[in-house]
Parts: sequence; C-alpha cells; structure tokens
Amino acid sequence: MEHESISFVNVSKIFNANSSMEKMALSNVTLTIERGDFVGISGMNGSGKSTLARMINGLILPSSGEVKINGMNTSNRKNIKKIRSLVGMLFQNPDNQIVNPVVEEDIAFGLINLGLSYHEVKERTDWALSVLGLEELRYQSPHLLSGGQKQKVAIASVLAMKPDYLILDEPTSMLDNISRSELMDTLKFLNREFRMTIVLISHFMEDVIEANRLIILNKGEIYLDDVPCKLFVYPEKLKEAGISPPKIVCLLNRLRERGHEIDNNIITLNQIEGFICKLLK
Ligand SMILES: Nc1ncnc2c1ncn2[C@@H]1O[C@H](COP(=O)(O)OP(=O)(O)OP(=O)(O)O)[C@@H](O)[C@H]1O
Ligand SMILES: [Mg+2]
Repeated sequence: MEHESISFVNVSKIFNANSSMEKMALSNVTLTIERGDFVGISGMNGSGKSTLARMINGLILPSSGEVKINGMNTSNRKNIKKIRSLVGMLFQNPDNQIVNPVVEEDIAFGLINLGLSYHEVKERTDWALSVLGLEELRYQSPHLLSGGQKQKVAIASVLAMKPDYLILDEPTSMLDNISRSELMDTLKFLNREFRMTIVLISHFMEDVIEANRLIILNKGEIYLDDVPCKLFVYPEKLKEAGISPPKIVCLLNRLRERGHEIDNNIITLNQIEGFICKLLK
C-alpha cells in the first residue's frame, strides 16, 4: 500500500511568469504531512498559505517540483478525481461552496454524486448535521443564513464526504468566539476519532495553538516548522514573519522575563490553568 501522506518536494509556484506581474507565491517548499497529523499553517497576508492549500487537491499545480497525495502526483490529470475524493477542501468564503436551495440537500449533494446508496446518504447527512449542531437548520435555505451558519453548512458538506485529509483555509474568519472554539473541538474530535488529517490555515494563533505541528510561511518559504510551544518561546522570530503569539503566551513570556520559571511546554489554557492551580497551592 502507498504511504499515506501529503508530500511536497522542492515545490515552487510562479504566477504570471515572464511578465511584469511575475510573482513567486511559493519557493522551494519541501514538506511531508502524515495521515493522522493535525497541522496548523500560518503566516502574514500574501505569504503563500492559500496557494499551498490549493496545491494539495490540484486546484493549483506547481511551476516546478512535485506534490503527491498518497504517492499520486497532482500534475497527472488521471489522479485528480481520486485525489479530490481523499482531500476535502474548505475555503474562507462559504458562498462559493453552497450550491443547493436547502441545507440538507447541500450536504447530500456531494454524496449523491459519489454514487452512495440512499441509506448511506441519509446516514452521513444526519451525522454531519449533528457534528456541526445544524439539525435545526436542515430544512432552511442556506442563502438566508448568517455568514457563520453558512460556513458551518460548508464544513458539514465537506465532512459528510469523510475525506482522509481535511484542508481548511481560514475557516474561522466568519465565526464568533463560541462557534470558533466549537469548530476547534470538532476538528480535534475528527482527528482523534477518525484519524482525519487536519491542515488548518489561520492567522489566529489561538486557532493553531493546539495543532501538533505549526508551520509558519514567510514570503512563500517555510520559515518555521515545529510543535507550537517551541515556536512561541521566540516571539522575535515570529514577529519577523508578521505573527504575534497568542495573548496568553505573551503573558507567560512577560512572567518569564520577570524571573518566573515556567515550563516551555505550557501554552494551552488547560495547561495554564493547571500551572496556576499549582502556584496557588
Ligand atoms: N491567481 C493568482 N495570480 C497572481 N498572483 C497570485 C494569484 N494567487 C496568489 N497570488 C499571489 O501570490 C502570493 C501568495 O498568495 P496567497 O493567496 O497564497 O497568500 P495567503 O498567505 O493565502 O494570503 P492571505 O492571508 O491574504 O489569504 C500573493 O502575493 C498573491 O498576490
Ligand atoms: Mg489566503
């Protein structure tokens, strides 16, 4: 069996080559994401995040280098259908992804196209609606929903396809704080229970903090790539890539500067809660 992974080898992407508008969006990116990983990708506007995301399902092809999903090269047209069945992609703007007049039909649409039985379509639609907490909206028209509700419908539609790799490009930009943290919990659940690979692109550090691995892009290059807690110890390096750590991490860093000894592995709210409770005892 082919090794289950997303693999980029020396990938560059030049838009509008040989013109005055020439733009190097990605430069010599080499990267492997294993099945089951939970990877965060961040970087400032224009750093190449969306270009990288769209290369994973072959929406954008490399100018040089290779992108392979489970060993299948995205530049080979024959592979695209299979690759797109493995890779679910969610974009920032849900309006581009919603095509049907009723929420549940929108979720079932992709499944019917897969040729699944009525029973399987119904079961998966119910499941996706319940995972996203959308049962009450199932008979609504998506076009009458709020931006955040539409985003959830778009997520449910992708989820119902049960992709091995779920790529989310700024999925939380329209969500309120509660919906954002619910989405994070959902992603963690999918990763844990179904070994669904999550690639989460966000410039909100709070979103990517709980990923197992955080990649920071800077001017189309991989600038940093490590477990999040290791990256947050060097705020100056992040700043160079236009990223500021989550506020809670800034606070910890300030306490460190004042001489408090705080374990570098502490970054999530749960860990900090444990640390403070220990201090108070
Ligand atoms: N279709 C295109 N044609 C020309 N240039 C493009 C195209 N798509 C992206 N670019 C350029 O490539 C660079 C990287 O763009 P990309 O959309 O990947 O950045 P990003 O990190 O997703 O930014 P943002 O945070 O704003 O979403 C930018 O300079 C952008 O202008
Ligand atoms: Mg983008």
